[in-house]
Amino acid sequence: MFHTLSLFVIVARDNLVFLQNWFLKFPHYRNRSLFITGESYAGHYIPQLAELMTQFNKKEKLFNLKGIALGNPVLEFATDFNSRAEFFWSHGLISDSTYKLFTTACNYSRYVGEYYRGNVSPICSRVMSQVSTETSRFVDKYDVTLDVCISSVLSQSKILTPQQVGETIDVCVEDETVNYLNRQDVQKALHARLVGVRKWTVCSNVLDYELLDIEIPTITIVGRLVKAGIPVMVYSGDQDSVIPLTGSRTLVNQLAKELGLKTTVAYRVWFEGQQVGGWTQVYDNILSFATIRGASHEAPFSQPERSLVLFKSFLDGQPLPEAF
Ligand SMILES: *[C@@H]1O[C@H](CO)[C@@H](O)[C@H](O)[C@H]1NC(C)=O
Ligand SMILES: *[C@@H]1O[C@H](CO)[C@@H](O)[C@H](O)[C@H]1NC(C)=O
Repeated sequence: MFHTLSLFVIVARDNLVFLQNWFLKFPHYRNRSLFITGESYAGHYIPQLAELMTQFNKKEKLFNLKGIALGNPVLEFATDFNSRAEFFWSHGLISDSTYKLFTTACNYSRYVGEYYRGNVSPICSRVMSQVSTETSRFVDKYDVTLDVCISSVLSQSKILTPQQVGETIDVCVEDETVNYLNRQDVQKALHARLVGVRKWTVCSNVLDYELLDIEIPTITIVGRLVKAGIPVMVYSGDQDSVIPLTGSRTLVNQLAKELGLKTTVAYRVWFEGQQVGGWTQVYDNILSFATIRGASHEAPFSQPERSLVLFKSFLDGQPLPEAF
């Protein structure tokens, strides 16, 4: 079953070696509180790294790990991926009949599993084609309420469309970032050398990813970290359909039950300024879940202020603001 075990933890091991050597080079940072955070597939490599750090600490106390935060993370493939159907349906992206097909005839975890194994069944192919037609490529799956970057969707050119007046989020920021990071002066300033590639891209396929590793659950590792006393926060940008809040909330709630943790902050709103920043629940002051209202898969991209409040609370080890 764990035929990819060695690859499963390879990134975590590399990250551990990096941190060990970094502390050798900068020993004055050794006693600092250390937090790690990331989103999406970081639901895999951050718990894995944190676990290696706690194991390493048993031999030599090197890492003063104070907590991990995971945003819209993949923690259990089937739960995470199958919450997509309800998210699409409840946000009006697919019809009642397509919702039924997408939950009974072929669900998303089955489709992805078949796709990664290179044998998509006719039924899954039919269901996914119906889902894609209805959701359309003009909706950003990472934030279903956000406008899309038209030049990017149509793949016409790298020339950016002028921003509309009054728009607060630049939806073309990813294209702009890629262009910026490919500027020679920027690469020189960052000491970023291109080795073996001609240009910098997002999620480059130069790397040979072990795609089926995504099916290995990491929520169990999160459970072991909590048991070892490491605070964990799982947060969800609530407009993301890729790893929707509903799957993450279910997984955290189930984990709390399994570990016998009690609710210390009952499900409630939290505030940023005078507005609701999202909802939160805390278990035994060590495991917490929070949504960020109006936020995308990469929450700070569409809700920077709310994300900052969440991040500060996480670093302070405090529950999210209850009032304004
Ligand atoms: C870290 O803290 C310990 C105990 O307070 C101290 O003995 C040690 O010198 C500190 N190390 C560094 C690198 O600051
Ligand atoms: C998804 O489909 C698989 C395979 O048909 C099935 O085993 C699983 O229970 C389904 N999950 C959900 C949440 O419907």
